[in-house]
Amino acid sequence: MIPPAPITHRPRRLRTTDRMRRLTNEVRVHPANLVYPMFVKETLTVPEPIASMPGQAQHSEDSLPAAVAEAARSGIGGIMLFGVPQLRDAVGSAGIDPDGILQRALRSARQAIDEVERETGRPGPVLMADTCLDEFTDHGHCGVLEITPDGRTIVDNDATIEIYGRMAVEQAKAGAELVGPSGMMDGQVAAIRSALDAAGFADTGILAYSAKYASAFYGPFRDAVDSALQGDRRTYQMEVANAREGLREADLDLAEGADIVMVKPAGTSLDIIRAVAETAPVPVAAYQVSGEYAMIEAAAERGWIDRRAAIVESLTAIRRAGASIILTYWAPEVARWLREDDIAAAVTPTHHWRQVPIVPSTPR
Ligand code: PBG
Repeated sequence: MIPPAPITHRPRRLRTTDRMRRLTNEVRVHPANLVYPMFVKETLTVPEPIASMPGQAQHSEDSLPAAVAEAARSGIGGIMLFGVPQLRDAVGSAGIDPDGILQRALRSARQAIDEVERETGRPGPVLMADTCLDEFTDHGHCGVLEITPDGRTIVDNDATIEIYGRMAVEQAKAGAELVGPSGMMDGQVAAIRSALDAAGFADTGILAYSAKYASAFYGPFRDAVDSALQGDRRTYQMEVANAREGLREADLDLAEGADIVMVKPAGTSLDIIRAVAETAPVPVAAYQVSGEYAMIEAAAERGWIDRRAAIVESLTAIRRAGASIILTYWAPEVARWLREDDIAAAVTPTHHWRQVPIVPSTPR
């Protein structure tokens, strides 16, 4: 009998105890890097739960400020607002109306955040706005439509980015510190940058949805904004099969002046997040989208998955892939967990946390 070779490398040593695992974690999720997307709908008088996103709601104008304040107190780093107008038209007029629902919501959110900052003496969340027309058009597309000579209806790129520029200026006037163009139009970042600069908003930043894939995981979001979309967005959002194109989109956005580049969805694009993070000289964000949220919530509701552990694991993986900023519907809830514990504790399934340490593998 040949004796087994001695084992000199024992990676398990660093996994022996909670203490050791806590010390050796390479990345951590921190509340300051989490951004909470919130919805406000013009026709509501009370908040309306979103059926496909349990725990999330469309807010009324009245309920929004308190919800923003509560989220701000959790210690998160940002709030991204989406507006659902009463009236939609072909060109999305309500989106650029200085007194449209999103602009009013931004003003009230601005006030709520400023109040929380005064009350706590700490920096509150950065206020952001979705800079896209899909919530405001009656056809649900991210821009204005044009009929091509051969009879196809497509989104008119150049007419749309001109509107985005005006929209961004209204959002900045209403208190947005970062605008988030999510429509995947060519040249949108440059158009917004020059419109903001011309209007005196040189300090308003652009969180560019750079690599945004046409994804089935946006399904529940379409409920959240009562989307009118028929068909799909595949003439402007990217094919899931394409990685190089994602890098090109990020490069173009950087050249056009993006302050932060974003990859979306997060969970199915970890390779893209990694690749962008390796080259982009700006912070990289990732959007854990509605379908990613819904899947974990649904499985947890059935008792098929440990909800808290799955949430923290999904966020840690996005962080590990290279995103420093994460948009997630769990932002305030996770921020509260992280303040109670730290990430090492939160990563461990809740019912196992604080169990007796496993016997060390090396003899003492
Ligand atoms: C477009 C927009 C979408 C999402 C964010 N911004 C929808 C789409 O592109 O169809 C999806 C976010 C999510 O699914 O959570 N304004």
